[in-house]
Formats: sequence, C-alpha cells, structure tokens
Amino acid sequence: MMTKNTETAMQLIDHLSTAVLLFDRDLRLCSINSAGEHLLSVSQRRVSGQRPDEILPNSPFFAEAIKRSLESGSICIEHGIDLTLQNEQSITVDCMITPIIDGEKYTEVVVELVDSNSFIRVMREANLQAVHDAAKISVRGMAHEVRNPLGGIRGAAQLLERELNNSELTEYTKIIISEADRLRNFIDRMLTPNVHPDITRFNIHEILEYVVGVVVAESDTGLNLTRDYDPSIPDIHADREQIIQAVLNLLRNAVQAIDENGTICLKTRTQRKVTIQNKLHKLILRIEIIDNGPGIPPDIESGVFYPMVTGRSEGTGLGLTIAQSLIQSHGGLIEYERKQEKTCFRILLPLEAGNG
Ligand SMILES: Nc1ncnc2c1ncn2[C@@H]1O[C@H](COP(=O)(O)OP(=O)(O)OP(=O)(O)O)[C@@H](O)[C@H]1O
Ligand SMILES: [Mg+2]
Repeated sequence: MMTKNTETAMQLIDHLSTAVLLFDRDLRLCSINSAGEHLLSVSQRRVSGQRPDEILPNSPFFAEAIKRSLESGSICIEHGIDLTLQNEQSITVDCMITPIIDGEKYTEVVVELVDSNSFIRVMREANLQAVHDAAKISVRGMAHEVRNPLGGIRGAAQLLERELNNSELTEYTKIIISEADRLRNFIDRMLTPNVHPDITRFNIHEILEYVVGVVVAESDTGLNLTRDYDPSIPDIHADREQIIQAVLNLLRNAVQAIDENGTICLKTRTQRKVTIQNKLHKLILRIEIIDNGPGIPPDIESGVFYPMVTGRSEGTGLGLTIAQSLIQSHGGLIEYERKQEKTCFRILLPLEAGNG
C-alpha cells in the first residue's frame, strides 16, 4: 500500500514538466511520469517493465548511457542528444542519469529528460516579451503623434469639398475624409489602454473560415489554400474580433509573400503541457499559417515583431506587432519558424478550464 508521503511524492513527480523515468537494477522500467509519457509518446502501461533499448529501439545511445552510468556508479549529464521515438519522430533532449545507491549496491537509476527545444523557446519567448513591451511604448507614442494632424486633414478636406461643385472631384475628398476617420478610429482603439476584451465562446474553425473569406475577397487572382483542421478542438473563450484581427494580419502577410504558384495551409492542433509566458498550460490550441513563399528577409527577421519593421515598400510594419499584442493579451504567443522551405507563423492560445 502507498504511504501518504509516497503518494504525495508521486503526485509531485507527475506534475513536473521534466520527464522522469525510473529503472531497476536490471534496467527494467519501474515508473515514468506524465511528462515522460508525453515527451516519449508512450504510455506507462505499455512500456512498464521494458528496457531502455525496447522503449527507444532506434536510439542505442540512450540505453548505452544508462548502462554506463549504472556500471560506473556516476551521474551522467548529456546536452542536446537526438532521440528517435517509436513513431519515428525525432526530439532533442538534455539528459541526466543518476544511479541510486543502497548500502553497497546500486538499486535503481533515475533518468531525467528535458526537451532542449522547449528551453530554446522559453528563452526566445522572454526575449519576445521584452521586444513586445518596447514595441507597445513606441507604437503608442507614434499613434499619438499621428492622431493630432488628422483633425486638420479632415477639416481641410471638408472645406475643400464645399468649394468644389464638381462631383467628380468630391470623390477624392470623400476618400480623404473616410480614410482619416478610419485611421482615427484605429488609433483611438490602440490608445485606449486595454479596453475590456469582449470574451465570447466560439469555434476556431468558424473564425478561420471567416478570415479566409475576407482574404479571398481581397485577392483578384484567387488563393491556393488548403486546410488541415483538427475537428475535435473544443470551443475557445476569447475576444472574437481580436482573434480575427490577429489571424487576418498573419494570413494577409502570407498572401503577400507568395507568388502565383504559392500555396497556403491553415492547420489547427491541440498540444498538451506547454509553457507560455512562464505559465504551464495543460492544453493549448495551435493555429499555424504556413506558406511556401521565400520567408522573412534575413535582414529584418530578428526584429520582425517590432513596429515599423517591414520588408515591403507599401508596408507599415505594424501587422505582426498588433497580432502579437492581441494574442499575448490572451495569455498566448505568436512564433515564427522557417523550416524545409516553408514559412510558418504559429499562434499558441491557452485552452483550458474557463477556456475550453
Ligand atoms: N509569411 C511571410 N513570408 C515572408 N515574409 C513575411 C511574412 N510575414 C511577414 N513577413 C515580413 O515581415 C514584415 C513585417 O510584417 P508586418 O505584417 O508586421 O508588416 P507589413 O506586412 O510590412 O505591413 P502591415 O502593417 O501592412 O501589415 C513584412 O513586411 C514581410 O517582409
Ligand atoms: Mg502585414
């Protein structure tokens, strides 16, 4: 029977984000925590009693390191080991192997594994947060400066309109007035500090389809767009307008990046146990906007989430800054990845109690 202490210890280990595996002296698996099951894509029930080379048959290094550590009785630490899982997926981990000694004999080995990429992501994320805070200040400053002359521009256009009796020319003054109004509304929204988000419950695919509709209407050549949706994703609780705006900014960028042979894929998935903004979430939603265009120009890649960083002559460089800001205010994050000639912008959004 489990004592109260052992039970608490097991619960604690199960809540760690580090994968922990315990092998006995014969190198048979006695225990694996939830993070371990998730990282290695196995279930405790199936791998219990198996040896390291049975759990990961395509990663002989893993079994050898555990054997060596047990034989030598010394702790072994390895960084950046590539492991191939049974489902053929590869992961890179940092690994620590600790033999446990009882009297004279080694009785068990504890193996701790941490996904190296998650550390890289957390570091990148901390950096992004700093970038984002700086961006917010400079966008607000700029917005304030732009707002002031708008009243003058609008007033002058109105006076001009009254002077012009020619209806053809008033077409232009009307554009000046309506665009000045649109810009002012936009700036007012940006300057209002954190207007209460209007949280409702909705299906993410309904939003994605709405955004696709807008982008298709804007394009005069049509779009080669594929969908890879996970239909089992639960409804999310979020500000509908803000999520639309964020996805729209990313999808427009993708459309602008591709040529006539380009393709865009919209992909949705859930993912368990993800840390965003230093908070561990049980379940998150991943929305990926993937295009096969050339990717972000290298000279602007590192600062692309800053305001006014643009690679397009007609771009304002605000699309990504605004999208990042909206998603971060939902406790989420937007990541950029360039892999196998594909450009991927990934929205991560918490999907859990109160939001799922
Ligand atoms: N999918 C993409 N593929 C290639 N480059 C991209 C992609 N998305 C963004 N970029 C690059 O990042 C830059 C910044 O994007 P961002 O949306 O912030 O501003 P913008 O598109 O230039 O202007 P706007 O404010 O009108 O959106 C773009 O100008 C482009 O060079
Ligand atoms: Mg843009």
